Parts: sequence; C-alpha cells; structure tokens
Amino acid sequence: MTPTPSQIAFFATAAKGTEGALRDELRELRLYHVRADRGGVHFEGRWEDGWFACLHSRIALRILAQMGRFEAPDGPALYDGVRQIDWTPFLTPEHTLAVSAACRSGGLTHTGFIAQKTKDAVVDQLRDLLALRPSVDRKDPDVSLFVHIAKDQATVYLDLAGESLHRRGYRAEHLEAPLKETLAAAILRLCGWDRVSPLVDPMCGSGTIPIEAALWAGNVAPGLLRRRFGFERWACHDATAAARMAEIRSVAMAARRDTDVDILGCDIDPAAIDLAGSNARKAGVRPRFEPGTVETLRHGDGPGFVVVNPPYGERLDADPALYDGMSAAFRSQRGHCIAVLAGSPAIEHAMRRQPDKWYALFNGDLECRLLIYRNAV
Ligand SMILES: C[S@@+](CC[C@H](N)C(=O)[O-])C[C@H]1O[C@@H](n2cnc3c(N)ncnc32)[C@H](O)[C@@H]1O
Repeated sequence: MTPTPSQIAFFATAAKGTEGALRDELRELRLYHVRADRGGVHFEGRWEDGWFACLHSRIALRILAQMGRFEAPDGPALYDGVRQIDWTPFLTPEHTLAVSAACRSGGLTHTGFIAQKTKDAVVDQLRDLLALRPSVDRKDPDVSLFVHIAKDQATVYLDLAGESLHRRGYRAEHLEAPLKETLAAAILRLCGWDRVSPLVDPMCGSGTIPIEAALWAGNVAPGLLRRRFGFERWACHDATAAARMAEIRSVAMAARRDTDVDILGCDIDPAAIDLAGSNARKAGVRPRFEPGTVETLRHGDGPGFVVVNPPYGERLDADPALYDGMSAAFRSQRGHCIAVLAGSPAIEHAMRRQPDKWYALFNGDLECRLLIYRNAV
C-alpha cells in the first residue's frame, strides 16, 4: 500500500492561463486547501485524493506529489537532498524511471544536469540497499519524477498521472492543429457554459470541443477512458490499493448520467466530420457532427453557446474573408454567448467589437486570447 503521511502536498499542473479554471474545478471536486499558483494549483490530501484528481480533473495536465523540498545551489546538494527521500516504496530494481526538470534563477541552470543528478541519487539509493539498480526508460517509465528548482530551492515530485492527462485516449488520430483536450475543457468552463444550453463548435476539426462538452454534460470522469495511470505501476500499488482505486472508478462510473443536451460540431472538411464522429464513439459520447461552413451557421435564437477555435495562420491557413464571414455569422446568433479562441489579432479585429470578457491562454507555445461576447436576445 502507498505510504501514508497524513497530508500530501499536491500540485496539479495546467496550461498557462487556465490556472483559475483548474482551481474552480478542484474546489468543485471538494479537494482541500486548493490554491492557484503560476502554472498550476496546489491542493492537499491523502494519496487517494491524488488518484481521484487524476481520474476526475478535465483541466489538469499532471498531478504531482511533493516528495521533498530543500536548498540545492549545486549538484552535490541536489544529489544529497534527493537521496534523503525514501524511494523504496515506489520503485524496485525491476521498475524503470524517468526524471524531467525545470529551473529558473539559481546556481543550477541546466535541466539535463538536474535530471541526471536526481536520477543518480535515486538509482544509487536503491543499488546501495538492494545491490541492483533500476534502469531508465524515458518513453514509458513505471515511475516519473519531476524536479523544479527556483532560486536554489529544489522541489522533487512524483508524477501520479504518468502520461499527460490531456491524452484521454479517444483521439488516436487527429487532423492538423487540434486543441489539447484539457484546454478545450478549460475554455468550456471559462466561457460559462452551463452544461445544459445548446452548444455548437462550427469549426470543430477532430471534435475536441464538442466531445469534451459531451463528457462534461454526461458527468463522465475523463480518466475513465484511460486504462491506467502512472501511480498504478508503482511498487506500493498493491492489491489493497488496486481494490481502492477500482472502487473510486466504479463510483465515477455510477455518477455518469444520460443527457440530451444539444451539442453540435460542424466543419467545412468532410474528413474532419468523419474523424470527429469516430473520436466521439471512442469517447463513448454522442454529440452531433455535420458538414457545414461557419459563414452559414444558424444555431437558432435564444440561449446557446458558440465555442470555436478558428484557424490562425500559424498551423492552418488564416483568411481575412473567413474571419469577416465568421464574425457576421456570430453577430447574428441572438441570445448566444460566443467564445472564440483567437490566436491572431486579425480575429479580434474582424469581430468589430470589444469582448465582454477575455482571458490570455496558451495553446501550446502560442499566446492566444479567449474572447467572450454576449449577444443580445
Ligand atoms: C484550428 S482547426 C480546429 C481544431 C479543433 N478545435 C480540434 O481540436 O481538432 C480549424 C478548423 O476549421 C475548419 N474550417 C476552415 N474554414 C472553415 C469554414 N469556412 N467553415 C467551417 N470550418 C472551417 C478547418 O477544416 C479546421 O478543421
């Protein structure tokens, strides 16, 4: 069973700009001491609260458990600090590990060196105790560590998720320029969608926004689509822990609900419509997908949401005439909330009015604005 210090300090990482949305989500999930920070959200709890967050969070990229925090102005101090932590509950010489690192301002400036020193300390601890050492597997490790160093303070974490949580598993293939599932989920929350009003993504590509909307409306925990998380490969994840995790999964299964919310995805590209449909089937949800152009969008009058991620020109061609046509179509959707993830100022310009609200978000490395407009009835 996983060792049980009474409270573990967790850090859920998030795409820049989505920390507030993740904080609100984790509070709704009734996790404790939830506090937003740069790049993510802190919370505290037992190990199983971390498992629960892996299963239920739609916005977090990773759930990290803090294993140690110490001064590390140089390599020997980092090595000693990591060796002080007892790694034996988590891995044996039969397990593989990988270490990643990030740093800013301090004596240690090279992430490759930080990862190497950390790995050496873990491996040496096990070798000295058990005469055998675990090996490194950067692609598919059993145990993933993350080290963050800022102003000579090192924080060492275990990564519970393993593979990033945006990889839900339903989008095996994709078209160009898909949104990360976690970013789509954050946009749905930030624009204030109530999980009941009709929603359309008129440029849906591989269907990420409608699929995430349907999962949320159906109260489907996104982690249910995954076979297993990183922590389920740790040495301490024994039969008792596995049985507890099975219970947490079955509670989540029972909480799914049927929904008849009208969720629609359209795209000019018939191949995108086929792909979006196949992705939705893999996710076990049924938003509607139809071919169509954004310029001819008619989503009915009355309350509704348009949530869209138009092409920007960076990865897909952007066309000023497309933005003008899109903007005119959006203005005609009476009573609607229009949420546009704009990766280019030309999109905001074409909208021809100030957004009622906006957020700075990062789509990968690309700084974007989520523009929110509320149309009169
Ligand atoms: C940035 S991609 C959307 C990606 C999507 N959010 C996803 O996660 O896969 C933009 C999409 O707009 C579509 N598109 C371009 N012009 C369009 C138009 N006039 N009407 C409807 N869709 C259009 C493209 O085919 C492309 O799939």
